[in-house]
Amino acid sequence: MNNVKIIGVGSYAPERIVTNSDLSEIVDTSDEWISSRTGIKERRITEGEDTSSLAAKAALNAIKDANINPLEIDLLIVATTSPDSFTPSTACLVQAIIGADNATCFDIGAACSGFIYGLNVGTQFVKTGVAKTVLVIGAEVLSKILDWEDRSTCVLFGDGAGAAILSKSETNGILSIFTGSDGKGAEFLKCPAVTVKNPFASNIDKKSSVVSMNGKEVFKFAVKTMPIGIDKVLKDSAYTIDDIKYIVPHQANMRIIEHVAKKLGIDNEKFFINLDRYGNTSAATIPIALDEMAKQGLLKNGDKIILVGFGGGLTFGSVLIEWLI
Ligand code: COA
Repeated sequence: MNNVKIIGVGSYAPERIVTNSDLSEIVDTSDEWISSRTGIKERRITEGEDTSSLAAKAALNAIKDANINPLEIDLLIVATTSPDSFTPSTACLVQAIIGADNATCFDIGAACSGFIYGLNVGTQFVKTGVAKTVLVIGAEVLSKILDWEDRSTCVLFGDGAGAAILSKSETNGILSIFTGSDGKGAEFLKCPAVTVKNPFASNIDKKSSVVSMNGKEVFKFAVKTMPIGIDKVLKDSAYTIDDIKYIVPHQANMRIIEHVAKKLGIDNEKFFINLDRYGNTSAATIPIALDEMAKQGLLKNGDKIILVGFGGGLTFGSVLIEWLI
């Protein structure tokens, strides 16, 4: 099996900043409620740009960071819950924009765990020698599938994209990786597609394509599965929590992260947080965070970090990385 490592990261978020007080002019909410319940202060919202455009900009930043030619990419995966279209895939649209003409392209739907699922798939392709260079993107324009009259969801999410490039390498940077799913919890966080409507359909169940959520159930799922994911990747490697410099969690809610820190008996400071500035950008939260950490110089050669996520599906996952740039 080949070794795999991350050779570049990049991100992009729309310029338009929407603060909690901006939202209080749209729905019955307040900065105090949103800040105290979630830790979110502001989020980025597109003024018309779609998911493929955000994804392509994040991808080009990662390509620059990795110093590769887009033609070297032989697999391009976009993790998204908010694709531009049913077909073509967002990955194919990104391929055309960035000129990754030699890539096989497809999307992954694992909601907020999507980037970790994408890293897992990409890692297996490189390990087995099927691909050498893989671009994994997490990208979302959630603002187009939110119900802007539902204060219990519209205040939580934002738009953005992040990307990482995996490559075959001499030393191994993906030390252990894990994904899981629990379809029994599908109802707790969902966004239906279109209604089945054809000349033969009997019971037409009119669907509304907006996000709805049982916040309390998702909260319970998150605080249960994040420690499981962290333990799993530690057990599958030679490391303990003390060897880990940073945990990069899915950025949904500060209270979830504080619960997990308490459960694991570790400091909040071990978690990299930027949800105050972006809100929950679903599949994009982890790669945006990773890119910010790299650009801020927080990651040094040899550092061990854990990425850990959870989301609709329900899905969850984690990866233990040795930073080898
Ligand atoms: N502004 C003001 N009030 C709001 C509000 C908002 N944006 N959203 C909900 N409320 C109100 C509710 O209507 C309710 O009022 P009531 O008591 O009069 O009925 C009250 O606040 C409490 O609502 P509740 O849903 O019990 O709040 P909570 O403390 O459970 O917090 C979440 C809600 C969503 C912040 C919390 O459940 C959570 O973080 N869940 C996890 C969500 C998540 O991470 N999702 C992403 C998964 S990838």
